[in-house]
Amino acid sequence: MSTNEQWSSRFGFILASAGSAIGLGALWKFPYMAGTNGGGAFFLVFLLFTFLVGAPMLLAEFVVGRHSKKDAVAAYEEISGSPKWRSLGYLGVIASFIILSFYSVIGGWVLTYLLRSFSGSLTGLESNVYGTLFESIIGDPATALLSQAAFLAITISVVQFGIQKGIEVASKYMMPSLFLLFIILVVRSLTLENSLEGVAFFLQPDFSKLTAEGVLDALGQSFFALSVGISLMVTYSSYLSKNANITGSVFSVVGLNIFISFLAGLAIFPAVFSFGFEPAGGPGLIFTVLPAVFNQMAFGNLFLATFMALLLFATLTSAFSLLEIIVATVTKGQGNRKKAAWISGFFIFILGIPSALSFGVLSDVSLMGRGIFDVMDFLASNLFMPIGALLISIFVSRKMKKDILQNEVMMGSKIGKVIFPAWFALIRYIVPAAITIVLITSLLSY
Ligand code: PHE
Repeated sequence: MSTNEQWSSRFGFILASAGSAIGLGALWKFPYMAGTNGGGAFFLVFLLFTFLVGAPMLLAEFVVGRHSKKDAVAAYEEISGSPKWRSLGYLGVIASFIILSFYSVIGGWVLTYLLRSFSGSLTGLESNVYGTLFESIIGDPATALLSQAAFLAITISVVQFGIQKGIEVASKYMMPSLFLLFIILVVRSLTLENSLEGVAFFLQPDFSKLTAEGVLDALGQSFFALSVGISLMVTYSSYLSKNANITGSVFSVVGLNIFISFLAGLAIFPAVFSFGFEPAGGPGLIFTVLPAVFNQMAFGNLFLATFMALLLFATLTSAFSLLEIIVATVTKGQGNRKKAAWISGFFIFILGIPSALSFGVLSDVSLMGRGIFDVMDFLASNLFMPIGALLISIFVSRKMKKDILQNEVMMGSKIGKVIFPAWFALIRYIVPAAITIVLITSLLSY
């Protein structure tokens, strides 16, 4: 979408930003991060960071975008009058590149699972077979690369035409269906044998299991899940009309995101314990646990296929936003979108190859004790996003005039007046302090 385009309505904007936010972050990454970091304690710290850091950052990005009506790179320059702030926008674009390069790997897995569920080959198996099946699927280089390429091709095909009404309309039906299906899953999962052990793991915090690294993971997750820190939401909100209520939008996006993360945890952990799986199972967690849960349901295969289709949709809407910010920067709202989308997509694919292969032929390659995929994720979520957010919070609270901020936050919002002083204090003091402390302590603990 070019800079002079607009969302068809504020609802459309909420759907698009919620579409960007809700995706693999809440549905795939959150459960396995919580699983590897001790469950309940991680969830609590994640919630804390979401309220104190992620949500205020989302509002900050909305303020910059809507006020400047420019894409991320141009926005900072326009507001500060200094070209050196452009680099903050570029930081976001580079991070989007990295994120999409590994995001598309998981997108490819979802695509593969969707296709497999059509053939019925994922149901009727013993629960303990799902782990090996998953490993053999993602470990195969041809499958990994082809599915990643296919996922990117779908993303590019949509983004090249601009963010259309189509996505807005589809989101209206797909998102609620996804919620509904999750509720069914939660019910099934909670009625499995031994399910309470999983509920306890997820909801009873055991802080002895949380490390400094886990705290950084929770901070990274609060950014990743809300798509903040890389100025993507600056670009998205630049397409908003002057009088839309951005404060209200923040509440909707954050609320939906927390709710779906909660549902994901409640669907997965009871089943993990019931089937005797390992909660710290890593990136394969939902791909091994959920098919096993569906297997215990009537019409399991139909549910599984529907679930994978909805998950694919949620994943795609996030991928669109990542490619959109890259294309918006490259074309500056005028150039050839089609060409920009395909060329960027090609380079993203190349960059993503090592991540795709890191679950198979390249699984022995590691850096600082992490595989290639994890290194890319760490770079984006635990370094680029927090550093980006730190700089954005400094920019907004120290480079922008307070009355402009107040105006933006209060526009159309009844609670804006009450929210503003708290938000301003958070963004000026708490956000930068929290990010700095977490980054330094966790990096020192390496
Ligand atoms: N928030 C998305 C998700 O949870 C991922 C994402 C991160 C999208 C950053 C855009 C920017 O799946």
